[in-house]
Amino acid sequence: MTNNITWWKGAVIYQIYPRSFKDSNNDGIGDLAGITSKLDYIASLNVDAIWLSPFFTSPMKDFGYDVSDYCGVDPLFGTLQDFKDLVVKAHQLGLKVIIDQVYSHTSDQHAWFKESRADKTNPKANWYVWADPKPDGTPPNNWLSLFGGSAWQWDTPRQQYFLHNFLTSQPDLNFHSMEVQDAILNAAKFWLELGVDGFRLDVVNMYFHDETLADNGVADSPEKMFVGVDPNNPFSKQHHVHQMCRDDNLEFLKRLRNLLDFYPGSTTVGEIGAPDGLSYMAQYTSNGDKLHMAYTFELLSDKCEPLYLKDNMMRIADSLKDGWPCFALSNHDVVRSATRWTQGSNYKSAKAKAMLVFLLTQRGTPCIYQGEELGLPEADVPFDKIVDPFGIEFWPVFKGRDGCRTPMAWENQADLGFGSELTRQWLPADQSHQSLAVSEQEVDSASMLHFIKEFLAWRKNNIALLTGSINWLDSGDPVLLFERVDSSQKLIVAINFSEHSELCPDVDDGAAIVWSSHEVSSTLKPYQCTIWQV
Ligand code: BGC
Repeated sequence: MTNNITWWKGAVIYQIYPRSFKDSNNDGIGDLAGITSKLDYIASLNVDAIWLSPFFTSPMKDFGYDVSDYCGVDPLFGTLQDFKDLVVKAHQLGLKVIIDQVYSHTSDQHAWFKESRADKTNPKANWYVWADPKPDGTPPNNWLSLFGGSAWQWDTPRQQYFLHNFLTSQPDLNFHSMEVQDAILNAAKFWLELGVDGFRLDVVNMYFHDETLADNGVADSPEKMFVGVDPNNPFSKQHHVHQMCRDDNLEFLKRLRNLLDFYPGSTTVGEIGAPDGLSYMAQYTSNGDKLHMAYTFELLSDKCEPLYLKDNMMRIADSLKDGWPCFALSNHDVVRSATRWTQGSNYKSAKAKAMLVFLLTQRGTPCIYQGEELGLPEADVPFDKIVDPFGIEFWPVFKGRDGCRTPMAWENQADLGFGSELTRQWLPADQSHQSLAVSEQEVDSASMLHFIKEFLAWRKNNIALLTGSINWLDSGDPVLLFERVDSSQKLIVAINFSEHSELCPDVDDGAAIVWSSHEVSSTLKPYQCTIWQV
């Protein structure tokens, strides 16, 4: 890792979805004590940080992304003391702790919303986005919710509509109010004081809306489409210029950054889902006065053709300049990459490894989602077991997000050693995960788990892969070929991202092979990755 302040540059972040990681009290839901009991395992992966999806007080309508108390731990996950214990142990193991902060909206059970909806004159009357109906009683404009239907919900107590970009139970906070901004900054300070090392900022580009409430236009070109949203979702048909990505966002992010700068070494990674997300990534991470890192959806789509990967990585490198990206192939919102990207491949295992090498050699900070280190495929959750409201709404065209949220595979047994028997688990353990469990892979030196541990141990000592610049080289599709260059090291990475053997590229005379997934010859085997040092 680099110095303390910029530890996050090139660090590897392990994402934990607390509900599904490890259950310590047999109630069917994972918890903080469960996570703490597995921190040794996480440290053994050679990652640098953990990112915890929300564990805050919540009615769990969106499984924690609907917060009803920003400074409380939901009893399902434990207590504040459990969280403090987790931080202490993580730090002892050299792991940084990043927590998810959901500022764009709260739960409708948050005390702020209860007060705000009471009438039009209470002290928090403008803390949410309220608007009168059109003369015919319909919603104020055409904005849509990502989770289906209008983005407006009628509220009887208040006799107005309120805005929600997700569920109706996730009312949108009005960031045009300085009081809202101050309250959010106070919540951030609460966690920084407790010693967290950073925040993953949920939908960071959705904090502000256009106060004129002008209608959205039509997404008439692919650049205006929302990456990461199923094309069958009507939300993807609009150009959401009035609903998100407003310039006001930048001013708030500067305020947040000012706060973080009081806590040296703390960091932020903002999730930016948007049409033309790359330009916002650049904007949000420029000048060192807003976000530290921007999380992109580019590698979360179904597309994984070598040309697509190369084009996108080149565009990111070109547009970001001094800004720093954060990449993931999998997370709690998308079909696991082991299924998404290896479907139909004759070389599933080699491809899964090549995908990770690709992720871990890009310029940026990579995230690994729990179970990705085992190559877990997407779980098959039948409709009667589906709990994700997004999936219930759009079934069967889009099956929701439960398939990537099932219990982590610790042991080769029916309940996967998750900590609660099968019948209690909030989502059913997938039986195809049994043979891929940690207990199996730990004793198999050819496993994905061993592969990743070894690669990450090696990566840590290669500074060019952590902070170096990236230059893409001509290789001829389908070999991905690029340099990572730091003042003290230059590496050349070649990944044959195809099902066929390809000619091994000519690299500089005198370059020495420092890492390779296969023996090196004049050809690169399917999904072979080879790295030279010049
Ligand atoms: C989170 C989702 C969540 C949504 C609303 C997303 O970006 O990753 O899991 O449902 O924000 O908070």
